Amino acid sequence: MKKIIFIVFLALSSAGVIHAASTDTRGYHMDPDLSDTKSLQRGARIFINYCLSCHSAAYMRYNRLGKDLNIAENILKDNFMFGTDKPGDTMNVALRPADGEQFFGVAPPDLSVIARARGANWLYAYFMTFYSDPSRPFGVNNLQFKDVAMPHVLWELQGFQRPVYKTVTHKDGTITRVIESLETGKPGKFSAEEYEQTIYDLINFLVYLSEPAKLKREAIGVWVIIYLLVFLVVAYLLKKELWRDVE
Ligand code: HEC
Repeated sequence: MKKIIFIVFLALSSAGVIHAASTDTRGYHMDPDLSDTKSLQRGARIFINYCLSCHSAAYMRYNRLGKDLNIAENILKDNFMFGTDKPGDTMNVALRPADGEQFFGVAPPDLSVIARARGANWLYAYFMTFYSDPSRPFGVNNLQFKDVAMPHVLWELQGFQRPVYKTVTHKDGTITRVIESLETGKPGKFSAEEYEQTIYDLINFLVYLSEPAKLKREAIGVWVIIYLLVFLVVAYLLKKELWRDVE
């Protein structure tokens, strides 16, 4: 019995540790808004232009995307799909996993449910904290995902950030340099605000992607509440009517 309790305790505490690690987002925070269709459309465009060359979203079909995000079919075809794709196709990637592994050391994962796996805040922190690091194969590292194998694909927009170091003296007298903050090094095409908005839209889209039914569920939820309120009035009137005779 003691052994079982110990195992359960161990399982729970390690789950807690994993949870704590994945929710540390360095103060970055965003509230996704799936009712903001314009933001979702912008996010879809960034995703298709900047991510789909390496990552897939194998659970999403283009025509579903068009329907959910209010994108007319001709616009979908001209702006959101690659030449050979058909509206019923899933958002697949040209890169074969084996090639991806050879190029990057790790195959880029499918992003269909990444927002549920990592959470919006984690993703926000990830895209805000790429920084120059000449020791890495692509010249960049990431504060949220140490030694990540992904290049900073949005560098043209954000530019490159430089790390600002501080020295920390430990109890045993050893001194190490740690990154205190990031500052703008080489500026990109976008201002800081424009880049933040772009990342917001991109992650808003990733949140939609990880649970497309949420859009409908939230819309249906409003009708359910309205129905319940109407029913409440009817039930109240009915009760009054029935009890009138009794009293
Ligand atoms: C040039 C190829 C390439 C492009 C383009 C690219 N990625 Fe990646 N991405 C990778 C690779 C490789 C990894 C695996 C990194 C690792 O495990 O070290 C990765 C990892 C990630 C992760 C972390 C996954 C995890 O393990 O939790 C996220 C999130 C991500 N990419 C999102 C994006 C988004 C969003 C875009 C578009 C803005 C994008 N990527 C564009 C190659 C790419």
